[in-house]
Amino acid sequence: MLTAKAAVAGVMGWPVGHSRSPRLHGWWLDRYGIDGAYIPLAVPPGRVAEAVRALPALGLRGANVTVPHKEAVIAACDQVDPVARRIGAVNTLVVAEDGTIEGRNTDGFGFMENLRADRPDWRAGAGPAVVLGAGGAARAILVALADAGAPEIRLLNRTRDRAETLAAELGGPVRVLPWEERAFALDGAALVVNTTTQGMGGQPALDLDLGRLPPAALVTDIVYTPLHTPLLKAAMERGNPVVDGLGMLLHQARPGFEAWFGRVPEVTPELRRFVLEGL
Ligand code: ATR
Repeated sequence: MLTAKAAVAGVMGWPVGHSRSPRLHGWWLDRYGIDGAYIPLAVPPGRVAEAVRALPALGLRGANVTVPHKEAVIAACDQVDPVARRIGAVNTLVVAEDGTIEGRNTDGFGFMENLRADRPDWRAGAGPAVVLGAGGAARAILVALADAGAPEIRLLNRTRDRAETLAAELGGPVRVLPWEERAFALDGAALVVNTTTQGMGGQPALDLDLGRLPPAALVTDIVYTPLHTPLLKAAMERGNPVVDGLGMLLHQARPGFEAWFGRVPEVTPELRRFVLEGL
């Protein structure tokens, strides 16, 4: 039940009606009996700075930020944490007691936590990682993998220029390979990550021959509709371990919930089922 003391947070997007976050945070609020609310905030492009600056004035604890605002909100924050700065995008806003607004990015955290939760023995340092795609999600994953100690990250994107720009910005272990050579890029890999939209419902499957992939390599996809993309199915058929993309969505939400509502939320099979039902 909500009282006049309820803690309130939300998600800013445009359109925001597709966001899974209200269902997810709402489940945790119910489960933990917290006097709080998590609401959709439909913020049109061009009004995002105004919306961010209004958070403390409205007494909101903060917000998640989704498409298309993740980059634009940076300029409206009082502080931006170093990871979000390197990724160049913010997905979580936290209003401090003094009313200042901090921007964070938890997408890379969500990605790593999903792998760790599903495959506790997996280590980023185990061998080369292959990342397909060079959009916003790829940026967060590249930063997370580099920070976790991946010795080499092979980045491949249909439009090579985007991959080159990303690699030049991020440096470290990121190395660009031609999209046409993606089957060969799998040689000796310990991890394969699809961050492209290929394999999503209504899209063609990612065109990738797994023949050269070592049998122990972990395969993951950020697409979670369907949960088992053609890539994950092909990997399972040849016996590779796989992790689906739903957990990344669930785990990226944890730090915001903790900051706004003061409780570390859990990702459980029950929560997975509940969020899946709403997809
Ligand atoms: P996001 O920011 O959510 O990651 P995005 O910026 O639209 O999304 O990126 C989508 C990714 O899917 C890009 O890497 C895109 O490749 P391009 O940079 O060449 O556009 C990739 N992608 C989309 N359609 C593709 C296709 N048919 N084949 C291969 N890659 C594709």
